[in-house]
Amino acid sequence: MSRVVVISGGGTGIGRATAELFARAGDRVVLVGRRADPLKRTADEITETLARHGAGDDPHGAGAGTSTGSGAGAGAGAEVTTVVADLSETAGARHVRDVVREQFGRVDVLVNSAGGNAAFGSPAGDGDPLDETAEHWLGNFRSNVLTAVLLTEALRDLLASPGGRVVLVSSIAAYRGSGSGSYGASKAALHPYTYDLAAALGPRGITVNAVAPGYVADTEFFRDTLAPERERTLVGQTLNGRAGVPDDVARTVRWLAAPESSHVTAQIVQVNGGAERGR
Ligand SMILES: NC(=O)c1ccc[n+]([C@@H]2O[C@H](COP(=O)([O-])OP(=O)(O)OC[C@H]3O[C@@H](n4cnc5c(N)ncnc54)[C@H](OP(=O)(O)O)[C@@H]3O)[C@@H](O)[C@H]2O)c1
Repeated sequence: MSRVVVISGGGTGIGRATAELFARAGDRVVLVGRRADPLKRTADEITETLARHGAGDDPHGAGAGTSTGSGAGAGAGAEVTTVVADLSETAGARHVRDVVREQFGRVDVLVNSAGGNAAFGSPAGDGDPLDETAEHWLGNFRSNVLTAVLLTEALRDLLASPGGRVVLVSSIAAYRGSGSGSYGASKAALHPYTYDLAAALGPRGITVNAVAPGYVADTEFFRDTLAPERERTLVGQTLNGRAGVPDDVARTVRWLAAPESSHVTAQIVQVNGGAERGR
């Protein structure tokens, strides 16, 4: 059955890889982000790939899916919709809810991948460092906590009952810090939210979990701030000697969102090649 899957941050990185997986399974995917261009590019590229290869797990293989969805040749009922919204604002979350309610009437899977380290985007100023500290902490709270909490609360009543799935995206930084504390702290705040929401939605047959990735390459997360030496350190901390890729996280999200994962809830699943235990 084609599911309705809402993915914040779906235009790039981990969100995009997740969208590809669900679309390949024939789901109707709604991508949310602030910038229209990456959302549209991703939607077009997914639709084009499905049209060429059909549904299935291997985007490069000759999939067997035939279209009942939006573009001719698309995989088994898949459809990709985009919604431009700033999810750190209540108005943005409300807008997504209105569009989803109007177009689909329900949400089967909600993946909260929107986020980032607000400290990366702000140039060091010459003002009072205390102001910069406040800016980073508030920025990370907005970017990582409000984006997830506001969208989830906005869509809460639309979640399929039973069978709905909510997945939040935390970080290894929640366990071991991120340099200045503010990013890791904002991700750690998602953990008690995951537990409380799982308790509240459990009776409706809805699961709520989080994935906590380690270093993931091929995303916009680091905004060109990742020095080669730092990257070598991060890879060196893994126990399998490689960087994560968006698909590593996407496949874990897919597992948590699967109908057969109904007894897995209130969990934080780390996806980091063992780096949290690494040196
Ligand atoms: N890459 C890593 O190493 C890593 C490690 C651990 C955890 N994570 C987490 O994984 C998640 C996905 O990040 P990524 O690595 O895939 O990086 P990314 O490519 O930068 O993806 C983040 C996405 O979130 C969207 N976004 C950010 N703020 C938003 C807002 N206020 N409203 C709506 N959308 C917003 C961005 O789109 P717009 O800018 O267009 O809004 C972007 O598409 C994030 O929560 C990140 O903290 C990443």
